[in-house]
Amino acid sequence: MAKRVFIKTYGCQMNVYDSARMADVLAPLGFVAADDAADADMVVLNTCHIREKAAEKIYSELGRLRRLKEERRRAGVEFLIAVAGCVAQAEGEEMLRRAPFVDIVCGPQAYHRLPALVARARATPGQGVVDTDFPADSKFDFLPESHAPQGVAAFLSVQEGCDKFCTFCVVPYTRGAEASRPVVAVIDEARRMVARGAREITLLGQNVNAYRGEGPDGSRWGLGRLIGGLAEIDGLLRLRYTTSHPRDMDDDLIAAHRNVAALMPFLHLPVQSGSDTVLERMNRRHAADDYRRLVDRLRAARPDLALSSDFIVGFPGESDADFDATLRLVADIGYAQAFSFKYSPRPGTPAAEMAAQVPEQVKAERLARLQSLLRGQQDDFNRACVGRVMPILFDRPGRRAGQSLGRSPFLQPVHVDDPTIELGDLRPVRIRAAQPNSLAGTVVSAAVVAERVPA
Ligand code: SAH
Ligand code: SF4
Ligand code: F3S
Repeated sequence: MAKRVFIKTYGCQMNVYDSARMADVLAPLGFVAADDAADADMVVLNTCHIREKAAEKIYSELGRLRRLKEERRRAGVEFLIAVAGCVAQAEGEEMLRRAPFVDIVCGPQAYHRLPALVARARATPGQGVVDTDFPADSKFDFLPESHAPQGVAAFLSVQEGCDKFCTFCVVPYTRGAEASRPVVAVIDEARRMVARGAREITLLGQNVNAYRGEGPDGSRWGLGRLIGGLAEIDGLLRLRYTTSHPRDMDDDLIAAHRNVAALMPFLHLPVQSGSDTVLERMNRRHAADDYRRLVDRLRAARPDLALSSDFIVGFPGESDADFDATLRLVADIGYAQAFSFKYSPRPGTPAAEMAAQVPEQVKAERLARLQSLLRGQQDDFNRACVGRVMPILFDRPGRRAGQSLGRSPFLQPVHVDDPTIELGDLRPVRIRAAQPNSLAGTVVSAAVVAERVPA
């Protein structure tokens, strides 16, 4: 009888991609997907360690799973608990000490070995197995071809790891050094995704624009060139990439924004702070004006480019003047969307040891001010879309019958009531209304040429 696995995903899109690959490697063992831990024979928590209390939340989730496991044991039924992802990597053996009922602890570079880990866990019940090695070989070479259903909008990992060592961040420790998949492997996987129904692919990497993959001719390809190659795949309508570091935005990639029509005019380009002193202590290796100039160059290449970013407030030593510099940068750039966070000291990172940690209340006040500015910019951007016609790629059924949900070029969710829409359609839609986090519109005649929203 088929076994059922429930994979719960936390954190970034890399984890979303990894969870799908874990399902692929577990499939040959007879595991099919479950929607809930209560229906499952195995639970995988694919965890994130980026900010506060991440590990504590996992331990309390594990407490709930422990009770389920005890019930199953009384009934004589197997129930495996696996912890994967960045908390697994950071905690390692410690996780088995704090939660000895966990069967498998598996880091983000080891999940292609899950079948062997499952076998070991079954052979030594109650002992727990840990695999947090960073192998020299790429796990991507060991992943089976996916047969799972493929959505219209797909994620594809092309790069992993980070060599930047921003002083606040755990990613270089949990994901390891920067590594890029070869060009041919990426293009083959993209073709298979398109053959299975993908119309949009988002290329993923912790530092995706640091991509330096080996090309078919043995030379190293940057991300701009890779995007050019992918754009030639028939049936692939849209390309995106995330997340980028400003330092790795090279001329080829900027040119791709001008030359590759399938590359969508929306870019997540985290800046973190607008203060040069804070950027320096964050080890971001660029100044605020470098970022401004970079955005100018990107907008010269693609005038309708909309931007998104990540911000951290209350980094150690951040003064009122530093914070004001962040507000100024936001005002200068004008974001369509953004994420902002209170600085959260991560054990083992340099910033956690820095003097002048900012009091919680100051962080909260700054975050509220920044978020209200960003919220206003997002509202303005969404309202400016009302009345325009945009090409919308429909990738999900809506909540109501006859309703579909799609994405604008700028990644805004767009609701349309129209029973003729099929998933995978790219239709011109006139935007009728803007809500805080989505738009609503109606399909117009296919003869209407899609307009672009001016930046
Ligand atoms: N590789 C990406 C982002 C990785 S993490 C980049 O370089 O931008 C996603 C976001 O989490 C970061 O951009 C940052 O804004 C936030 N973040 C990371 N560590 C953090 C910390 N210690 N405290 C608060 N926010 C943090
Ligand atoms: Fe973290 Fe900085 Fe690397 Fe991004 S670039 S993953 S913020 S260390
Ligand atoms: Fe979180 Fe790891 Fe991604 S810490 S943000 S899951 S790389």
